[in-house]
Amino acid sequence: MTRYAHVVGWGSYAPPQVLTNADLERMVDTSDEWIRTRTGICERRLAGEGETTVSMSLQAARRALEVAGLRPAQLDLIIISTVTPDHAFPATACLVQDALGASHAAAFDLSAGCSGFIYGLSIAAHLLSAGAYQTALVVGAETLSRITDWSDRATAVLFGDGAGAVVLEVGENEGGVLSTLLGADGSGGDLLRLPAGGSKAPPSHRTVAERQHFIQMKGREVFRFAVKKLPEITREVVERAGLSLGDVSLLIPHQANQRIIDAAVRTLDLPPGTVYTNLERYGNTSSASIPIALSEAAEAGRIHPGDLVVCAGFGAGLTWGAAAIRWSRPHPAPPPRWLQFLRRMRYPLAAARSALRRLLRWLTSLGVRDYLDGEKR
Ligand code: UT7
Repeated sequence: MTRYAHVVGWGSYAPPQVLTNADLERMVDTSDEWIRTRTGICERRLAGEGETTVSMSLQAARRALEVAGLRPAQLDLIIISTVTPDHAFPATACLVQDALGASHAAAFDLSAGCSGFIYGLSIAAHLLSAGAYQTALVVGAETLSRITDWSDRATAVLFGDGAGAVVLEVGENEGGVLSTLLGADGSGGDLLRLPAGGSKAPPSHRTVAERQHFIQMKGREVFRFAVKKLPEITREVVERAGLSLGDVSLLIPHQANQRIIDAAVRTLDLPPGTVYTNLERYGNTSSASIPIALSEAAEAGRIHPGDLVVCAGFGAGLTWGAAAIRWSRPHPAPPPRWLQFLRRMRYPLAAARSALRRLLRWLTSLGVRDYLDGEKR
């Protein structure tokens, strides 16, 4: 039997705090006009106090599971793509696994810049098709505001925070993730980077004084790379699926710059309305940008069962990735309130179970469990 990895759930989360171009005019030497015309961005969302990549991933994941109609315990695999994890370790995915109560899922993070979500989708789809797993949750989530230099106008105007997620499930019907394409060119690693905080330059007074814990980007060079790469990978992933550009129902590109997207559309000669953009509201959310756009498009009824959706991203690394997906399901109507309430109750229960596990671990460390086990015998 051929196994197809279908996208059966989707969801996104954008923090409520909005930073407009007018706000940025008061922070750095820029203008609303420059930002709009050079990037297409009007506003972006910023994580509030207490919000992190884990908390935003969790929100998006819960919504995606809701759409999929799956329980967290039915998940076999969780992949979270991020360049802004809560910690270097443990992985963001493990903390999300615990908070969801996805007790049977393997979990790991991956770092592939703005292409990360496509990397995660491709890995998950291949593992499902190969028979390793039945279900997977793939999340792209970023808290870029915490690594943005708010005094650097070249980058401060670009980035935002948020999370998007999809749930994949194996099915026998032909469709789902039809083809993927991944690539990298590390010779461009210096074009977009976070210089310090890793093993090469651990945090020190010097790295802080030199502002090395913030994003550094050679924008013009990344722009040139992106304008060439985006149409190239879109075309190639469609061909790999044995289809042509005329079959594409919706292109969901990485939301970095409207000019990059417009150039790709021109090169590919796609009809108007074939591209989904939301970067005017969120800016560039790195690996969250494609899953947020994909979820929004599905919720807005822009994607229908049978549609061919192509996602294509590029970013730090340099990396690139694309996926051609035959859409399987319509966006479901919201379940009745009582069911929503019951489903929401899963998460406090997951927190209670996690707390119990910690307690048992603590008791074990005190030797109490050994004592109790001895008593039983
Ligand atoms: O998601 C990962 C991938 N990242 C990207 O795809 C980003 C790709 N790059 C870009 O989107 C664009 O290169 C930027 C939006 C970052 C910059 O646009 P640009 O048209 O390439 O501008 P530029 O860097 O060539 O700068 C043009 C001018 C410069 O002034 P001079 O040297 O001509 O006097 C900059 O100093 O614009 C100036 N500038 C600004 N002016 C007002 C740069 N940033 C700003 C700003 N406000 N925020």
